[in-house]
Order: sequence, then C-alpha cells, then structure tokens
Amino acid sequence: MYAISVFNNKGGVGKSTLTLFMADFLATLSVRGRALRVLVMDMDAQGSSAAALLGTDGLERARGSGLGVGRLARDLDLRTAVDTGEFLFKRPRGVPKGRAEPLPEIGVMVSDKASSFAFEVNPLHRLTILRDGLKPELAKRFDVAILDLPGNIDERNLLAVNALIMSDAVVAPVEPSRISINALPDTLEMVRYVRARGAREAPVFLGLVLNRVDKRSQQFQRNLPWIRQMCEQLGVPLFDAVLPNAMALSTATDDRLACDAMRERYGLYYPHVKAVVWEVFRRWRHRQGGEGGEAIGEP
Ligand SMILES: Nc1ncnc2c1ncn2[C@@H]1O[C@H](COP(=O)(O)OP(=O)(O)O)[C@@H](O)[C@H]1O
Ligand SMILES: [Mg+2]
Repeated sequence: MYAISVFNNKGGVGKSTLTLFMADFLATLSVRGRALRVLVMDMDAQGSSAAALLGTDGLERARGSGLGVGRLARDLDLRTAVDTGEFLFKRPRGVPKGRAEPLPEIGVMVSDKASSFAFEVNPLHRLTILRDGLKPELAKRFDVAILDLPGNIDERNLLAVNALIMSDAVVAPVEPSRISINALPDTLEMVRYVRARGAREAPVFLGLVLNRVDKRSQQFQRNLPWIRQMCEQLGVPLFDAVLPNAMALSTATDDRLACDAMRERYGLYYPHVKAVVWEVFRRWRHRQGGEGGEAIGEP
C-alpha cells in the first residue's frame, strides 16, 4: 500500500480539496483488472474531507460512536485487541445519471477532537504506531491511502507526526502568493523532523502543487518567476500541472449528498484534476527509480 500525505502547515491552501481530487480520480483507476482500493484518512479534526465523503450526518455518526483515528492509535499503542475494520467507513458509489461517471467507492477514516487530543497529550505514545501497527493492516484492504493533514502542526502533535511517519510521500498544495510561499520553510522543516524520527528516508517530498491559479491575472504572472526561484532556493520541485481557481473545484469539499457524479462535481475542470494526480504518480515512480509503484491503467 502506498501512503501519501497531503500536507502544508498553512491553512486554507487546498489540502482537503487536493485529497478529494486524488481519491476521486484514483478510485476510478484499475490495477490488473481490479479497481484501485482507495482510503482517505482525515487526520484533521475539522473533518473537511470526511464530511465531503460521508456527508455531515455520516461524519457525526462515525464520531458519535467514538471511532476516530486518535482512539485507534491509542488502542493499538496500548495493545488492546483492535479490530481495524470497525474504524473504517465508506463513501458508497454514486448513482450514475445517464452517461455521467458516478462517484466511486472510497474508504474513509475520521478524526474527532477528543480522541486526537487524548493521543496527542500523552508523550508516552509511540511516534511510529500508525506505521508499524496500522499500515500493515490497512495494506490488506487498500492499495492507496491518502492522508489529509491539519495545518499548523508541530513536534508536539504526536498523531499528525505519526501520520507523516506512516507516509511514503508528501505533496503540498500551495497558493501562488507571496505569503503562502514564504510560509514554506516551516512545512519543509516538519518533513525533515519526521524523517529523522521515523529513522528512514521517507516521506519523500514530491513537490508543490499550485492551487487557485488564475493564469491571466497580473499577480500570477508577476509572482511565477519569483515562485520558481524560491523553489530552487528551497530545493523543492514545482509541479507542471496546476489547479485553477474555480467555483466548480470548490465543490470538492461539499457534502457528497449534493452530487453523485464526477462531472456534476468538477465539470469542465476535471482534466486539471486528472493532470495533477497523474503528475503525483509520475513523480513518485521517478523517485522510485523509473519503475516502482504498480502499473496503473484506466478501467
Ligand atoms: N482550486 C480551487 N478553486 C476554488 N476554491 C478552492 C480551490 N481549492 C480550494 N478552494 C476552497 O478554498 C477553501 C480552503 O480549501 P481546503 O481544501 O479546505 O484547504 P485546507 O484543507 O488546506 O485548509 C475551501 O473553501 C475550498 O473550497
Ligand atoms: Mg483541510
């Protein structure tokens, strides 16, 4: 199972949005004739991506039964008998209307403030429990896990650090503005810290995805050369594909009940979504030395 974190310490840059784009697109693909099994782990107690996938009611029910990832991490660390399956929810397939491509099935794990906090405040909890205790279990059921991280985390957030340590790669959405780019060193520092604590090279930093781009705006045209220069200085790759600023893309984080089909959700902008997700996997395969990953084909 390939685990990828969507992370940027800045809030509101599109982490949950990009998480949902990746999940929606990847779940339409197949590997050796079998649909790719995709899991979204919403690590943010605000629950944007889980609410979009399960509906706000579904999210409240899941939280109400105490089945958040903080509780799961705690149970695993205390070695109480844990049935991982209990903590897994799913977004059912959409109902296809005419020729519209339905929203595919996606596995979901939710966060709740209380259990995340209970895990985080106890310094005795291991930083590697999600990687060592949970990931092998998830690998039996899923091909890809996408982790939607909260913003503004630091070394004290043991659950978020656990999530990053569990990840093979990190991708960071960023807005094409100076304040967003200037906030990057903090995010990169966090990734370096996580590598040291996880005692391995992972997660690999795949790069920055520019989000909310308006190519025609003067501000974007002025900022782009500066952004490229900053990326070079910081040693971070910049994705070729970008996500436009568009109303249709802001619907990603809406409650799923509002629509059942991809085209209802992303409209004409769906090709941009696909281009970004393909680039994530191209960059991952490249980092693996050309091959690696699995041969993924469209269904
Ligand atoms: N490409 C986009 N076009 C238009 N609105 C967007 C786009 N990306 C994100 N948004 C909106 O910006 C807000 C913040 O995005 P979100 O994904 O929740 O960020 P984060 O998870 O980093 O806090 C949301 O209201 C979302 O709908
Ligand atoms: Mg978010």
